Amino acid sequence: MTEAIYPSLRDRVVLVTGGASGIGAAEVAAFAAQGARVAFVDIADDPAIALAARLAAAGHPEPFFQHCDLTDIAALRAAIAEVGRRLGPITVLVNNAANDQRHRWEDMTPEYWDERLAVNLRHQFFAIQAVAPMMKAAGGGSIVNFGSVSWHASQGGMPAYTTAKAGVEGLTRGMARDLAPDNIRVNCVIPGWIMTERQINLWLTPEGEANLLRNQCLKRKLEPADIARMVLWLAADDSRMVTSGLFPVDGGRI
Ligand SMILES: NC(=O)c1ccc[n+]([C@@H]2O[C@H](COP(=O)([O-])OP(=O)(O)OC[C@H]3O[C@@H](n4cnc5c(N)ncnc54)[C@H](O)[C@@H]3O)[C@@H](O)[C@H]2O)c1
Repeated sequence: MTEAIYPSLRDRVVLVTGGASGIGAAEVAAFAAQGARVAFVDIADDPAIALAARLAAAGHPEPFFQHCDLTDIAALRAAIAEVGRRLGPITVLVNNAANDQRHRWEDMTPEYWDERLAVNLRHQFFAIQAVAPMMKAAGGGSIVNFGSVSWHASQGGMPAYTTAKAGVEGLTRGMARDLAPDNIRVNCVIPGWIMTERQINLWLTPEGEANLLRNQCLKRKLEPADIARMVLWLAADDSRMVTSGLFPVDGGRI
């Protein structure tokens, strides 16, 4: 497939959360291939270090990896400040990290509820709050939040995750209004079922795949790069008048 080149992304400072594996790793690679200056945070050090080395070996600018547990807001703020010091003001934020661990509603405790919301929603707001002043000073920016088709499709088996992902869409629309005066755009990508290593290893079954393809208009499985392409466009100046948008990339499922 021909890959688009976005001249506006060259040298742009981009932060991807949860960039060590899965869709986030595809985003880090896609931005590096555009000549952007990419930073990413994650808790998974080994795959993160391997990814940065692989991209540097391929001749791209080496992404800057910073270990950070996003449920720790003080650590998140410190990581964002460090990226700003090292690479310059962040003008693209990709709020990608999440964890889709399954859980039974009958077993839910207040503590586990808070922990699930912390890993799947809260950090997206606090990352926005920390980067917005940098974007404002730089004359604008683009923020891409990550939702999910799961709650649109009434998927059960993980109520705190589906609640958090519904919240991401509300966060997107509210912050798009608040940040527009500073030329900061806020959009949300809503992935369908994407064939990451984790999804293939943990959840993909022949029946699940058949059911997925029955429900999608396009009868092909989605790859992480399909999501990264949408993220690139939302980050680039080509989408300069697009904000408050909710973008399913799901082969036509919801
Ligand atoms: N893969 C899918 O089918 C799918 C479907 C719908 C939505 N999404 C959304 O797309 C985004 C990416 O999903 P993915 O499938 O690549 O996920 P993944 O689980 O494969 O990767 C998530 C990354 O985030 C990191 N991470 C998790 N908790 C963290 C924490 N506390 N601090 C820092 N980093 C942390 C992980 O280490 C990992 O590298 C998520 O927001 C997810 O909800 C994915």
